[in-house]
Amino acid sequence: MARLTIHYNGMTRVIEFEGQKRLDDILISNGMRSPHPCGGMGRCGKCRVELKGAVSQPDKVEARFGARLSCRAIILGDVEVTVLTDGAPKIETATSNAVLKSPMAGNYGAAVDIGTTTIAAKVFDLAKGECIATGAVLNPQISVAADVIGRMDAAQNGRADELKDMVRQAVEDLLAGLTDKIIESAVVTDNYS
Ligand code: FES
Repeated sequence: MARLTIHYNGMTRVIEFEGQKRLDDILISNGMRSPHPCGGMGRCGKCRVELKGAVSQPDKVEARFGARLSCRAIILGDVEVTVLTDGAPKIETATSNAVLKSPMAGNYGAAVDIGTTTIAAKVFDLAKGECIATGAVLNPQISVAADVIGRMDAAQNGRADELKDMVRQAVEDLLAGLTDKIIESAVVTDNYS
């Protein structure tokens, strides 16, 4: 029987388990979890933890984010984990009470802001002019370079498609997590152009 010692929100718990388990599976089944904006898909890098003990080597996703992730790490034996519920960069978004100045054609639309650190989005009911959901995720391009200059440099050195795909996937995941409505139109703004 292996022991997982968990430091979570100022408390320490010890859980005994058998076999090899994904850290998230143990945490979630015991009512604990780090932030999971991407739903544990290995895309947001927010489920950061500190690990000591018998644990799998960092995989490609963890290497990309430069951190151990609870949705990726496999616990192999006795381990001590600190769940960084406040450790990830904070994402600030405005409240969801935004309204459109006038109703627009169509059913649902989105406004997306692609920032260097954060990608934020609002989903609107276009006929009513009301915002129905607001959310944000970390811009995954951070794993390539922290600033715009570094990303431009990477793009010029053959990583342009990779950078584009990262943002497209992040926007798709973000909107999919905000609503199950079909979004017919979107306004996208960024600080690159
Ligand atoms: S929950 Fe998003 S990377 Fe783990």
